[in-house]
This record gives sequence, structure tokens and C-alpha cells, in this order.
Amino acid sequence: MRKDIHDYDLSRHNTFGIHATCRRYIEFSDEADLIGILASLTEADHPLFVVGGGSNILLTADYPGTVLHSAIRGIEPMPYPTSADDILVRVGSGEVWDDFVATAVSHGWYGAENLSFIPGEIGASAVQNIGAYGVEAKDIIYKVEAVEIATGSCITIPAANIGYAYRYSRFKDEWRGRYVVTHVTYRLHRRFTPHTAYGNIAAELQRLGIATPTAAQLRDVIISIRRDKLPDPAVEGNAGSFFMNPIISRAQYESLLATWPVMPHYDVDADRVKIPAGWLIEQCGWKGKSLGKAGVHSRQALVLVNRGGATGADIIHLSDTIRADVRTRFDIDIHPEVNIL
Ligand code: EPU
Repeated sequence: MRKDIHDYDLSRHNTFGIHATCRRYIEFSDEADLIGILASLTEADHPLFVVGGGSNILLTADYPGTVLHSAIRGIEPMPYPTSADDILVRVGSGEVWDDFVATAVSHGWYGAENLSFIPGEIGASAVQNIGAYGVEAKDIIYKVEAVEIATGSCITIPAANIGYAYRYSRFKDEWRGRYVVTHVTYRLHRRFTPHTAYGNIAAELQRLGIATPTAAQLRDVIISIRRDKLPDPAVEGNAGSFFMNPIISRAQYESLLATWPVMPHYDVDADRVKIPAGWLIEQCGWKGKSLGKAGVHSRQALVLVNRGGATGADIIHLSDTIRADVRTRFDIDIHPEVNIL
């Protein structure tokens, strides 16, 4: 049944646990429901914002318009047209991301396992291009179905047209406010190829005595690494990585190496290098520190936390202070990856 509530408390819809309200909150159950809702909204109901699991937003004020939330469910496998080794899986935008990953692994549909235990919902995976442990959602997204807000028409966008890049899609930029995602179809594989090159996955598998992991074992290892490093929002409010890892020129990276010879990095291409923002923030002395009710997680400096009762402004103040310190020390600008509302 459709949920439609005025002056709604969003505390349970943002993992930072910040107290804020919206004028109207509507949950839709399928495309037809969404199209009907969009047609019925008046000028007074705008602006519109689509929330998923609320695991990548920071609320800095009460929202003056309507918050929409997808309750479209369903995880539906279908044949891949030209290869029996692959399978398409069409998923409703309101499904919990990790429920999809768990279902895929248990059915022998492979490719999503490195993205295990990422919080949030399916719709956001396609908007945000979520990523972890050397895999990004774009690697498995085949197409996205959405409703265009202005016209109420349903469209299907092939992944190649979505402009995917690191934590980026056209939905975040030129298409902002234009579409509501209703389904995402992923292309998965029936043969399992473990991707264990990133970070400490291989070391953790070795510690467990696993030479050739199954997808379920890889998923378990990733879940345990994430549990160890990332704070549980139920205990301490947070939105995962608060900042994106900055991409700098190789020339700047090489000149910084003179002062910081152990600076970790990932090659982007011949001219550009990505630097872990968590490392930069740690070098500035912020790991585990607090500024008022906002803090920096003690096991992963990329994650800002609500120490209890923080406002959005408290988190922004900490973020601005950290950004200024990183700029002063490294001449690098870091940018939030959370959506600030
Ligand atoms: N590092 C530090 N200090 C810190 C944190 C990290 O020195 O406080 C160093 C680590 O030692 C390592 C490097 O930085 O050498 C990378 O750290 P990590 O593997 O923890 O990953 P990350 O680059 O900090 C990114 C994603 C995470 C994702 C991990 C694993 C972004 C913004 N974040 O973090 O995504 O889980 O890789 O793949 O790209 C998220 O988006 O919410 C998120 C958690």
C-alpha cells in the first residue's frame, strides 16, 4: 500500500541519524503508482528528492518539498540473449542492495560478490556507481529503467549511455532531478572468477587457509573486512566514505613522493593517479578525532561519524576543516561523495 505522510521525520531514512523532516514523504510500489503520484503533485509539493537507504546523504536542514522512496521489489533472472554463460537479473529499485548480492551468490550468479555488504538500495547503485574491492556497479549494470518526472514516461537506458566513472553517473549531474529509477538489470556470470587483488583480501584468505575461494567465501571475507573497518550506523551514525578519493596528476603525485615516500596510490591512467583520502586525512592527524559532536572514525579516516546528537552543520564544519587541512598540507582538494541536502 502507498505511504503518503506530511511533515515526516527522516531520522530513520538517513544513516547519519540526523534529525530532520520533509514536508511530504511518499513511498511508491510500482511504475503505475509512481506515474500517478508524479501527475498528482502540485507546485507546493516541489522540490522532489528520491531517497534510497539514506546511506549516502547528509541532511543539513528540514527538506522543503517531497521525498520519494521506491518500494519496488523483485529479483527476476532471465536469459542473456547471446551467451549461455551469462544471465540478466532485473531488480526493483527498492530492494536492499546486499539482499540482491546474497541472492545472486546463493543462486550461482557471479560478479557482485566484491560489492557485498554495501549499505543502500538498488536504485542508488545505478545513480552512485557504488564500488568496493576493485569492482564497481558499472561493471555489472546492463540497463536502467526509469520514469521521467516531467512527462511520466518510462524509459530504458543502456549502461553505455549513463556516462559511468568513479562514483559518477549522468544521474548525479546533467540528469539530476530528471528521472526516478524503477529497475536495474545486471549482467552476471555463471562461471565464478574471484577478484582478490585489492587491498587485504588475498592476505585475509591466506590467513583463513583458503587457496581458491568460492563466491560465498569471498563474500564472507569482504563482509568481515567491512565490519572491522567501517562503523555500524546502528551504533554510530555515518554514511560510509564521506569523501571521494581525489584524482591528481602523475606530476603532482611524483613531486609529493619526495616528502611522502610511502603515499599509497592507484593508477587511473598514464597521466592520473588516485590517492586514498583516508590516508591524507590520517596524515593531517584527524583519525579518531572529534570536533564538537562530529568525529572521524578511528579505523578508517575517510568516514565521518555522528558522535551523538550532531546536526548536519556540525558534520559540514568538520568536513570543511578537514578539507582545508588537506589542501594546506598536500595542495589537494578533496570533495564529499555524500549528497548534501
Ligand atoms: N588508509 C589510511 N588511513 C585510513 C584509511 C585508509 O592510511 O584511515 C589507506 C589504507 O591503508 C590503504 C588505502 O588508504 O592503503 C585505501 O584504504 P581502503 O582500502 O580502506 O579504501 P579507501 O580507498 O579508503 C574505498 C571506497 C570504500 C570501499 C573501499 C574498499 C571511496 C570513496 N571509498 O575506500 O567505499 O569500501 O575503497 O574498496 O572510494 C563508500 O563508498 O562508502 C566506501 C566505504
